[in-house]
Amino acid sequence: MAGETAVGIHDLSFATTEFVLPHTALADHNGTDIGKYHLGIGQRSMSVPGADEDIVTMGAAAAAPIIARHGFDRIRTVVLATESSIDQAKSAGVYVHSLLGLPSATRVVELKQACYGATAALQFAIGLVHRDPAQQVLVVASDISKYDLESPGEATQGAAAAAMLVGSDPALLRVEEPSGLFTADVMDFWRPNYRDAALVDGQESITAYLQAVECTWKDYTERGGRALDAFSAFCYHQPFTKMAYKAHRGLLNSCGYDTDEAEIARAIGRTTAYNAVLGNSYTASVYLGLASLLDGADDLAGQCVGLLSYGSGSVAEFFAGTVVPGYRDHLRTAGHREAIDRRKPVDYARYRELHEHSFPTDGGDHPTPSETTGPFRLAGLRGHKRVYEER
Ligand code: HMG
Repeated sequence: MAGETAVGIHDLSFATTEFVLPHTALADHNGTDIGKYHLGIGQRSMSVPGADEDIVTMGAAAAAPIIARHGFDRIRTVVLATESSIDQAKSAGVYVHSLLGLPSATRVVELKQACYGATAALQFAIGLVHRDPAQQVLVVASDISKYDLESPGEATQGAAAAAMLVGSDPALLRVEEPSGLFTADVMDFWRPNYRDAALVDGQESITAYLQAVECTWKDYTERGGRALDAFSAFCYHQPFTKMAYKAHRGLLNSCGYDTDEAEIARAIGRTTAYNAVLGNSYTASVYLGLASLLDGADDLAGQCVGLLSYGSGSVAEFFAGTVVPGYRDHLRTAGHREAIDRRKPVDYARYRELHEHSFPTDGGDHPTPSETTGPFRLAGLRGHKRVYEER
């Protein structure tokens, strides 16, 4: 029965790209006041993938430290959530499974619903662990956020992967029932199969997100969820970090609370450090918010954290988790700092070159230039097949 076994996030690790574009370079190029980026949307820099990086290389790099620490004996399922899929049929998770050397007696699948996919993956994983608490599930959320050059969305690009080991008696976060759920058929953001970059109605997407926050919270409370003041912090999906502030302000307003800015900063501030420098990582974003909170906050042992996952189109979920006493011994703060600091800054011209990179579609042999230094790389395309290699 759900509820008898504590189930949740046992380990959490993220990886990002080789390159980074500071927002100052983008502002210099397009003549935007840097205040709009640093203060208006709350972004400092964005991760930029090299030609030999993609959701598979990032996903495997995020998960490898988890496998190194825990082994794979209990992992029977890998769920990869993404909206930057590389194949219409084969799950990117199968490539990750292979790069990590996981056993063949594993089920692997890919999930999609814009930025919400990883939360669906987490909830599916929790269900599997309740069915057999001896099993663990590897959830990988990996995405590259890409908009057209010179479009309003350009400043909210980014890339990262978050990997989570989901199991019983978790070391980091016990995930609670109930969840508040919300789905609405809206065209706020989408990416047709023939497009590389997403299409978005920016202001509509903000309105749709805010409505989803209000509706998930309503469903959450109607199902007996905790009161607002029971939460120490709130991790929101962060397409840009100021969106988390807008969302929390909206939630407080809808609950009839004052929107005290100091109180909002206290509830949100520690969740934004990673997203502010990585940019939008779509499915991974809310879990980077959680990593940022756990890595950066004072002791949260026993405290309750709210998570709000939003995926355009749109599906949203609000749920709560309790931080497990002793969690600090299991964090990866130094590794996360290293993933951010190791990125090489690029200028606008180089960023543009990488943005415009695409593979020919003729099925020929197309090796990629070896320009990254991470543990895995996309070596090229051969006969329409993606070829990966481990360093
Ligand atoms: P924009 O129209 O270029 O910017 O696009 P703006 O004019 O709205 O300005 C942004 C903010 O900067 C405003 O603050 C300005 O006042 C402020 P606000 O009024 O909103 O609080 N500002 C300044 N502040 C200080 N100094 C200055 C200055 N100038 C302006 N000099 C937009 C912004 C976010 C719409 C655009 O970047 C965009 O389209 N982004 C992509 C869509 C997006 O991120 N939507 C978020 C909600 S949808 C979502 O989260 C799902 C998503 O992740 C996809 C998925 O689910 O898969 C996107």
